[in-house]
Amino acid sequence: MLNFIITETYTEMSMLAAKRVAAALINKPDLVMAIPTGGTPVGMLAEMSRMAKNGDADFTKTFAFNIDEYIPLRNTDPQSYYYFLQQHLYQYANIPAENTFVPDVLAANLTAECARYEQTIVDHGDFDMTILGIGHDGHIGFNEPHATHSPVCHVINLNVDTIEANARFFARQEDVPQQAITLGMGTILRSKEIVLIANGKSKSSVIKQLHDCTRIDPQFPASFLLMHPNVTVICDREAASQLHI
Ligand code: PGA
Repeated sequence: MLNFIITETYTEMSMLAAKRVAAALINKPDLVMAIPTGGTPVGMLAEMSRMAKNGDADFTKTFAFNIDEYIPLRNTDPQSYYYFLQQHLYQYANIPAENTFVPDVLAANLTAECARYEQTIVDHGDFDMTILGIGHDGHIGFNEPHATHSPVCHVINLNVDTIEANARFFARQEDVPQQAITLGMGTILRSKEIVLIANGKSKSSVIKQLHDCTRIDPQFPASFLLMHPNVTVICDREAASQLHI
């Protein structure tokens, strides 16, 4: 059973998600987190940064892992997801650089790199909290709709839909990378707590699909969350506009 919380605004969605992180941090200062990128989490990351600056949350002992990264962007590339987290969170939150993790998408052997990243997560005791966005096609992380799924960290070819959706962050659609490394379904599902955030009208169909789904469907990757005992979906009124609750 997924637990849905509907907020009136994007700001409230963002603040509520950030509060979940802050509450978890109080219980466990060395929280191991998987952190999303994209448009949805910008407000949440700003609120987490504000909390860190004001002393409302202490991130100095936390471990932060990228959920995914584009191949083959360097950490210093402004389009890379590591750079995104650096800009939106790390530079404010005082997370020690050595406690921030991202797959090395420039590694000569990407399969070996995926295995190394997965093992690093295991070595940290798996995630205490994974915060997810959701794609219009139901992807979580970059686990795109597919007949089968890798349980562990892996290389994925991005769908045309996803490339089109992400083109808004690039000068030209042909600049959007076609591949990424993403956490696997198992990596995500081993997390002790999962929070999924969604906002805006464009997410209302996928949120309805998630709300109504009762079976695991590999063509609707977010349905795998049904197997997890502690998932909270926080969405704003627009994203929830097709739900009759
Ligand atoms: P978005 O991406 O937050 O930019 O909508 C969500 C996702 O693809 O997971």
